[in-house]
Amino acid sequence: MISLKVKPKSVLFVCLGNICRSPTAHAVFESMLQEADLKNSVLVDSAGTGAYHEGNKPDARMTKAAKQRGVDLSFLRARAVQQNDFEKFDLILAMDKANYEDLIEICPIEYQDKVKMFLSFSNKISLHSVPDPYYGGSKGFEDVLDLVEEACSGLLKFFL
Ligand code: 4NP
Repeated sequence: MISLKVKPKSVLFVCLGNICRSPTAHAVFESMLQEADLKNSVLVDSAGTGAYHEGNKPDARMTKAAKQRGVDLSFLRARAVQQNDFEKFDLILAMDKANYEDLIEICPIEYQDKVKMFLSFSNKISLHSVPDPYYGGSKGFEDVLDLVEEACSGLLKFFL
């Protein structure tokens, strides 16, 4: 189980393209913060380890699946992780193991404690990674939403 030395005030969700998994976590977590009346005191953002989709809207399949659960992704645009993110954010949460390894490779040593696996914030999920839905069918996008909703609930407790 995760333990943190100080209460975080900001979180960056990271996947590969920043068009499926991390924007979903971004929007789901922001709506949970809003319900907890914390939206104005916590900084939330998302980014990709790759820059292929920079400036793009989230994937249309992910946007549709999220909308069916009342989660709006349409305001988000993809961007790549930048060096100053490591200083700026208290938590930098990787969606999968490859994202984690890519982040650690470019993260200054003094900030490496901030980089964690997103699913480690849930004690109900046995998976380590949120599977990449990009090349699969519609179930993959539902799975992303299930995992993101559960791990965001676990994450929220650290911000209360
Ligand atoms: P994401 O999904 O990392 O959850 O945004 C992907 C999006 C695009 C690609 C791979 C994964 N791609 O290969 O373009």
